[in-house]
Amino acid sequence: MNKSFYITTPIYYPSAKPHMGHAYSSIIADFFARFKIIDGFDVHFLTGTDEHGLKIQRAAEKRGLDTLKFCDEISETFRNLSKTLNLSNTDFIRTTENRHKLSVQNLWKQLLKNDDIYLSKYSGWYSVSDEAFYSEDEVEEFEDSKRAINSKSPVEWLDEESYFFRLSKWEKPLLEYYEKNPSFISPQSRKNEVISFVKSGLKDLSVSRKSFSWGIPVPDDKEHVIYVWLDALTNYISSLNYPDTQDNMFKKFWPASIHLIGKDILRFHAIYWPAFLMAANLPLPNKVYGHGWILSGEEKMSKSKGNILDPIEIINKYGLDPLRYYLIKEVSFGNDGNISQERLEDCINSDLANNFGNLCQRVTAFAKKNCDGKIPDKIEFKEEDLKILDRFKNNLDLIRTKIDEQDINFYIDFIVNSLFETNKYFNDQEPWKKKDDSVRLNTIVYTTLEIVRKISYMLYPIIPESVLKALNIFNIKEKDIIFSTLENHNYFKANLSLKNIDILFKKVEKKND
Ligand code: MSP
Repeated sequence: MNKSFYITTPIYYPSAKPHMGHAYSSIIADFFARFKIIDGFDVHFLTGTDEHGLKIQRAAEKRGLDTLKFCDEISETFRNLSKTLNLSNTDFIRTTENRHKLSVQNLWKQLLKNDDIYLSKYSGWYSVSDEAFYSEDEVEEFEDSKRAINSKSPVEWLDEESYFFRLSKWEKPLLEYYEKNPSFISPQSRKNEVISFVKSGLKDLSVSRKSFSWGIPVPDDKEHVIYVWLDALTNYISSLNYPDTQDNMFKKFWPASIHLIGKDILRFHAIYWPAFLMAANLPLPNKVYGHGWILSGEEKMSKSKGNILDPIEIINKYGLDPLRYYLIKEVSFGNDGNISQERLEDCINSDLANNFGNLCQRVTAFAKKNCDGKIPDKIEFKEEDLKILDRFKNNLDLIRTKIDEQDINFYIDFIVNSLFETNKYFNDQEPWKKKDDSVRLNTIVYTTLEIVRKISYMLYPIIPESVLKALNIFNIKEKDIIFSTLENHNYFKANLSLKNIDILFKKVEKKND
């Protein structure tokens, strides 16, 4: 049986159209998913929409629409975005689906049975925009009202009967778990804030609401709906058909390898979610990674701030793969980043068109002309050929380790350096001067083509569509990539005919060029 890998994005609120921040989480998750696919794993990749709660109910009311109709419409735009971004997701979940509702109610019953839920009364601050409860020291005065200090979202006072989850009981087990699993919360820089929050003392968490109805009803108490975060987090197991824990999906994919999220929702994923799971006697995910924000100016991009950047506009202007490449390469993973069209254009012109596109064109054109349009036969490797060829084989385990540490910078640097070295190799070897030495000419062409193939494989998680165009030179199709593994170092069969290559990237004319 293949090794399995389960990665998730946050499920997005369909309160408004998707923006670049959402696209960022999804593209990064797709990068990891596709790497694992070509490394021979069975991958489950989940994304979807988080449709319950007061925030969504109010957004629908504002548009004068029935809440479910409103969700149907916007959830569809997120589903379409997944296609536009060329995500390899294997499931798209909506929390309004029945399969999800069954899982959530089952988890609730399990928590109740284990005496982790009790009925009481909540009095305190609540932010509808964050769907989060805040203590007195987490809010500040702002104009005539109050807002959350961290998110700057307005808060309102709640006073209502509510079910509570015994979060306080899990304070010690959580701290022990963090201690024993040092990379559970990543990157390391975010770990301390979570740990100090837990150490400062966890209060029991209100997990139901009574004053509105847009949610999953509490089993046996229809007056309450389940708190939207308990509902939403459960999507990670409802996609695997929980409570059927013997089911093939659950057995195969749980615990998740990584929940990829934005740093804004770390508390929910690194504290509440593991506590719910422990209370239900379920295994905990291997890792929760909180990435940084895509900023607009100095601020987080968000609908309420009215500063959103539409991924579709950028894709229409530059194409999808350049955007994917830019976000993966230029936003230092784990930190906040800006979208600079200037830098995006530089990426297209120099990395994609010059370094990768041009290499593919150049060596294919040369082989077509000088090697009868085929992968050359009769080759004899010299040390300089093997040196560049073996770079991949020799680094594969390191690359895997770096991927499991989410070290995207290492991965990108490896590719950019390989492209640079290969272009240099082709130039230095000067095959055009070797027309009298066909073995040497053939060997140089063979070596360069083989490296183009290897680099293309490595680029597949980043720019899948362009890579497929490039690999078409060798008649390699997507299924060939998916069903081989990176371990597969078989070189080409000689005499394979080379196909024509389309232009991979059009250079952008820059104003100051
Ligand atoms: N519905 C919750 C998540 C539930 S997961 C069980 C939610 N939704 S959200 O639509 O508001 O945001 C989801 C995620 O989108 C964020 O955690 C983050 O991953 C991504 N981003 C939203 N805005 C972002 C930026 N400006 N920059 C980068 N990512 C951001 O929270």
